[in-house]
Amino acid sequence: MPPKIAAGNWKMNGTQSALDELDTLAGILPKDGVEVVICPPATLLVPAAARGSAIAIGAQDCHAAEKGAHTGDISAAMVADTGAAYVILGHSERRDAHGETDADVNAKMHAAWAAGLTAILCLGESEADRDAGRTLDVVGAQLAGSLPQGATPDNTVLAYEPIWAIGTGKVPTQEQIVDVHDFLRAQLVDRLGAQSGNAIALLYGGSVKGDNAATIFEAQNVNGALVGGASLKAADFAPIVSALAAS
Ligand code: PGA
Repeated sequence: MPPKIAAGNWKMNGTQSALDELDTLAGILPKDGVEVVICPPATLLVPAAARGSAIAIGAQDCHAAEKGAHTGDISAAMVADTGAAYVILGHSERRDAHGETDADVNAKMHAAWAAGLTAILCLGESEADRDAGRTLDVVGAQLAGSLPQGATPDNTVLAYEPIWAIGTGKVPTQEQIVDVHDFLRAQLVDRLGAQSGNAIALLYGGSVKGDNAATIFEAQNVNGALVGGASLKAADFAPIVSALAAS
């Protein structure tokens, strides 16, 4: 069985005072059987990890290279050095705003694994892809291109995030979520065999809120969520964690 994971992506939100939300969240948690991960901006990784609570910490990106002349970037080893255990890779906002290709993401996956991090690999189609009936082709190609050989349930989590559902309040139908998650599960089993393929956590992301989480988590191959806006406040995120624990 895959682990249940509730991951929050703070994106470019939060200065030091936002760590109070982390403390509030830690006070409400842990919820049995759920791994809770918060991915704050890079500036907050060290103080967030130093809180030493049951909440795991993750970065939102890392560079593929070990070190060197890459102004403004941080390496996977630097992320691990903060005390973080996870890194989000291939988020659609990075693929879009920073031109990251599947090959770029693939290289970052290698770097993350080499540093001992668990990568949360994001995949998802645009609205135009969905309207054209290309969703599974697009997501399948992203998976094939971004996920290197060597994925295990310990080093990899997948997050299906339809681009048109991110930050929009639009959520796919349950059937659309199930279709993609079942497809991803089958692809993983095909590539990695039943044991590993069935044990990698598949998260859904895109406008997950406290009031829709329970329904989303009913799907067999939805093992958690990657949450943006509703992860910023403990009061909004805690009900999502509770819904996952109850699923
Ligand atoms: P959202 O973002 O929950 O604000 O839609 C999700 C994400 O980008 O991971």
